[in-house]
Amino acid sequence: VKGGFATFMEKEIHDQPGAVADTLRGRVDESGHLGLDELRIDEAVLRAIDKIIVIACGTAAYAGHVAKYAIEHWCRIPVEVELAHEFRYRDPIVSEKTLVVAISQSGETMDTIMAVRHAREQGAKVLAICNTHGSTIPREADAVLYTHAGPEVAVASTKAFLAQITACYLLGAYLAQLRGNMFGDEIRALLAELAEMPDKIQTVIDSEDAVRELARELSDVTSVLFLGRHVGFPVALEGALKLKELAYIHAEGFAAGELKHGPIALIEEGQIVIVIVPSPRGRDQLHAKVVSNIQEVRARGAKTIVIAEDGDTDVEPYAEVIMRIPAAPTLLAPLLAVVPLQLFACHLAGAKGLDVDQPRNLAKSVTVE
Ligand code: F6R
Repeated sequence: VKGGFATFMEKEIHDQPGAVADTLRGRVDESGHLGLDELRIDEAVLRAIDKIIVIACGTAAYAGHVAKYAIEHWCRIPVEVELAHEFRYRDPIVSEKTLVVAISQSGETMDTIMAVRHAREQGAKVLAICNTHGSTIPREADAVLYTHAGPEVAVASTKAFLAQITACYLLGAYLAQLRGNMFGDEIRALLAELAEMPDKIQTVIDSEDAVRELARELSDVTSVLFLGRHVGFPVALEGALKLKELAYIHAEGFAAGELKHGPIALIEEGQIVIVIVPSPRGRDQLHAKVVSNIQEVRARGAKTIVIAEDGDTDVEPYAEVIMRIPAAPTLLAPLLAVVPLQLFACHLAGAKGLDVDQPRNLAKSVTVE
């Protein structure tokens, strides 16, 4: 059942190219037109929405956080991301023009179910992005976009996360197409980039031995910080979550720009800092800013482990270890950058002799509020 792997989690990390490919499959016709017929929300309603609120918990919320960057950029619709349990118990501003996107692997997370009910009571349309057919959230939602990651057995989410991000990209591209923010050629170019992601994810997985080795070397660490900017920020949060839940190591993810506003005080000699570096080909000096953040922590004694694109030589002087990922558009890069972090947490937990698939105190689906 584990396909020759020691743990389900490792198998599921290896399933990721397929999970992304299967989530993309059948949604693009021969002419490159994206169709999401399963959506079942009137096109006129989707054209009229003026706000999207993503509700989810844990890893699924980080997928939503990535979605915000992509959907706002492609569709120019404001996107808020909110933890389902926070959304439910404040007084959120929701109308018939709000599209609430509920992301859940299991479809049975009680916090998310309650938030879906609350949103619908307020008149919002709810679209579920879900991995489990016939589960509660898709049944209660107005529409569903299924992720096709296959059953996820390990408690810690991996392939469902990549499939959720992929579904969010499809939703963003679809809305951009429908609302005229992107035209045929642009959509086709984006879908072609997406279609290349499964092979690129495989390339990252192929570097597993080096990550395993690093995890073994670091199996005694007691604290790890993760830094990212832009879409690298939710990747940093996810990397930290994986390390906490699997290896019981204190880990925190930060927006790299936030460092100087406080967290840099944590840096002392030998502190491990993992930095997710955006593509040097991206815009807005994002890359240069992150490289300078690496320099800042390094100058204060941090040991820096850097996730950087192939061919990015700027990071070399400041990195103890570099984990390479293939070149990809900035917005799509989370599908690659998170993979070494999943492998790192998985193998570090393994090196500590912990139960990777069933971490203490956690359940696969959290069916109580
Ligand atoms: C982390 C993890 C959890 C889930 C969260 C939501 O590895 O698995 O944070 O992502 O409990 O679960 P679903 O997606 O089933 O609603």
